[in-house]
Amino acid sequence: MCGIIGYIGEKPAGKILLNGLRKLEYRGYDSAGMLLLNKDKFTRIRSVGDIDKLEKKINGQWPKGKMGIAHTRWATHGGVTEKNAHPHFGRAKEVAIIHNGIIENYRELKEKYLKNHKFSSQTDTEVLAHLIEKYHQKHPLKKAVESALKKVHGTFGLAVISKKEPDKIIAGRSGSPLAIGVGDNQYFLASDATPLLTHTRKIIYLDDGEIAIIKKNNSYIYKIGNNNQINKKAQNIDWNTEEAQKGGFPHFMIKEIYDQREVFMDAIRGRLRPKEGSAQMGGFNLKDKEAQKIDRIILLACGTAYYSCLVGKYLFERLAQIPTEAEIGSEYRYRNPVIDNKTLVFSVSQSGETLDTLVSQREAKRKGAYVRGIVNVVGSTIAREADGGTYIHAGPELSVASSKAFTNMLAILTLYALYFGRLHKMSFETGNKIIKELEKIPGKINLILKQNEKIKKIAYKYSKYQNMLYLGRGINYPIALEGSHKLKELSYIHSEAYPAGEMKHGVNALLDKDFPVAAIATKNNLYEKMISNLEEIKARKSPFFVIATKGDKNIQRMTSDIIYVPKTIEILEPILNVIPLQLFAYHCAVKLKRNVDRPRNLAKSVTVE
Ligand code: G6P
Repeated sequence: MCGIIGYIGEKPAGKILLNGLRKLEYRGYDSAGMLLLNKDKFTRIRSVGDIDKLEKKINGQWPKGKMGIAHTRWATHGGVTEKNAHPHFGRAKEVAIIHNGIIENYRELKEKYLKNHKFSSQTDTEVLAHLIEKYHQKHPLKKAVESALKKVHGTFGLAVISKKEPDKIIAGRSGSPLAIGVGDNQYFLASDATPLLTHTRKIIYLDDGEIAIIKKNNSYIYKIGNNNQINKKAQNIDWNTEEAQKGGFPHFMIKEIYDQREVFMDAIRGRLRPKEGSAQMGGFNLKDKEAQKIDRIILLACGTAYYSCLVGKYLFERLAQIPTEAEIGSEYRYRNPVIDNKTLVFSVSQSGETLDTLVSQREAKRKGAYVRGIVNVVGSTIAREADGGTYIHAGPELSVASSKAFTNMLAILTLYALYFGRLHKMSFETGNKIIKELEKIPGKINLILKQNEKIKKIAYKYSKYQNMLYLGRGINYPIALEGSHKLKELSYIHSEAYPAGEMKHGVNALLDKDFPVAAIATKNNLYEKMISNLEEIKARKSPFFVIATKGDKNIQRMTSDIIYVPKTIEILEPILNVIPLQLFAYHCAVKLKRNVDRPRNLAKSVTVE
C-alpha cells in the first residue's frame, strides 16, 4: 500500500498536497515526495521518513505551481531510500509519475523496451515512467499511458503529468484504488476520499481498467485503450476523515480483515516460480547450496505472530522435513537455546519492533545462526538487524489486534516451506499444486467475507457466554489458538484453545450448556477424528459452531451453526479458517461494545519487556 494524491487548479498546490499526504499516512509512511509543475519546470522534493520529514525538507520554501502530484510510500520493490521515493521521472524528465501497486514484469519491460536506459532507482515505478515517456515522444499523454499500461502485468493506481501537456493529470487504475475529487476550478485525485474531504464532498471513484483525464474544470473517464467517454456521476460523501480512512467500515479491524482479499496477493506476487514449482524470496540472501545445509529452523515471535509460527512449524516439517520449533520471544531470550551454524532463525513480526523478538534475534545471531526477518514494517529494527529476509507487504495495520499481517505471515512461511521443500525431496508436481492453490486463495477469502452477516448472527448468539473453548487438530490447532487469542483481546471473553485430541485429558470437565465451543472441522486427514470430538461435545450439551468445508452436509446433523469455507489443500487451510474466527471475534466485540481498535491494556507494538 501507498498513498497518492494529485491537484490541478488555481491555488498553490504545495500545501494542498502536503496536507493530503498527512491524511494518507495510514497507507504508508516510510518515505514521501511531491512534484509541482510550474510553466515548464518540474520541482521535485523527496525524503525518507514520514510527512513531517518532508515538510522539514521543504523548510518553508514551497515549490511554485498550481498542479502537482505527491506520494507517501510503503516500500515493495526497492529499499527505503530517497532515490526510491516517488514521484519518478522518465529518461528525459519530461514525464513524472506516482504509483501505488506493483508492476510484476518490470524487469522484462526494462529488457525488452528500455535496453539502453539508465535508472536512478530500484523501483518498478521508474521503469513504467520511462516506458510512458518513450511512447509520449510520438503520442499524446493519454495514448502514451495506455500503450505502456497495455504491456504491464500487475496492479496500479497511478497519476502522470507531462511538461508537454501541462493542463492535465492522467490517472489510471487496476487493482489499486483511486478517487477523483470534484471542486470549483480545481480537481483532485487520491488513493481514497480521505484527503479530498476538506476540499470537496463530490467524489468519483474510478473502477479497474479505467483511465481519466483530469483538468482543472472537468474530468473525462474512459476504459483504458478506448476513446468513448464513460459518464460517471460524482457521489456525495458525508464521511469524516477517520471514517474515510476506514473506507466506510466502522473500525480499522474490520477494514483490515477485508483488506486480506487484496494484500494476500501482495505477499506472494513476484515470489512464485511456477516453472520450478518453487518460490524465491529476493532478500533471503542465502544461496541454494547454503540453504540445503540448514538442518534446523527456529521461528521467533510474540502474540499473533507466534501463532503464525506454530503453523510454520507444521509447514516446514510437512513440506521440507526440517525439524522446526516455534518459540515465544520472551521465553527464548532467557533460555540457553541450542543453536549452531546450520540453524536458520526467522524473526516474525508485524511491527519489526517487538522487544522480546528483537532481543531473541540478537541472541541467535550472536550464537552463529543465520538470522532472517519476516516483517511488515519496512526498515524496522528487526528488519534492519537481520541479515536479510522478506517483507510480508500487508500494508499498515492500525487495529491493535492483528489480522491481515497474520495471513500474510502465513503466506510467506508457506513460500519458504515450499522453497525448502523443493531443495529437498518435494516433487515439482507437489510444488506446482501448492502454487496453483496459493493463487486461488484471494478469491476464496472473498467468498468467506461474503458470509459476514451469517458470522455476525452466530457471534451475537455466542457473545452472551462468559467462556469459550476453541478446538482444532493438526495444522488447524494453531488456528484454534489464534481464534481464541482474537476473541480474548477483542471481546474480553475468556477463552482457551486445545488440540481436540487432548479434551479427554482434562478440558472435557469444563463442558456443559454454558460452555460453548468453536470447532474447526474442515475436510482433511483428521476430519473423522474431529467429528468424534464433536459427538463428545454434543453429548455434553455444549453449544457449538463449526468451521466446515463447503459441501459437507454430514456436519448439519450436529449443529445448525456452521460457517462454510471453500475447499483448499490442507497446508493452506489455516489461511482460510482463520478468517471466520477473526470476523467472529470482531462481531462479539462490537456486540459487547468494546473498544475494537484499541482493546484495553494492550498496545500495537510492545517495545518494552
Ligand atoms: C502486540 C500486538 C499483537 C501482536 C504482538 C506481536 O501484542 O497487540 O497484535 O501480534 O504484539 O507484535 P509484532 O509486531 O511483533 O507482530
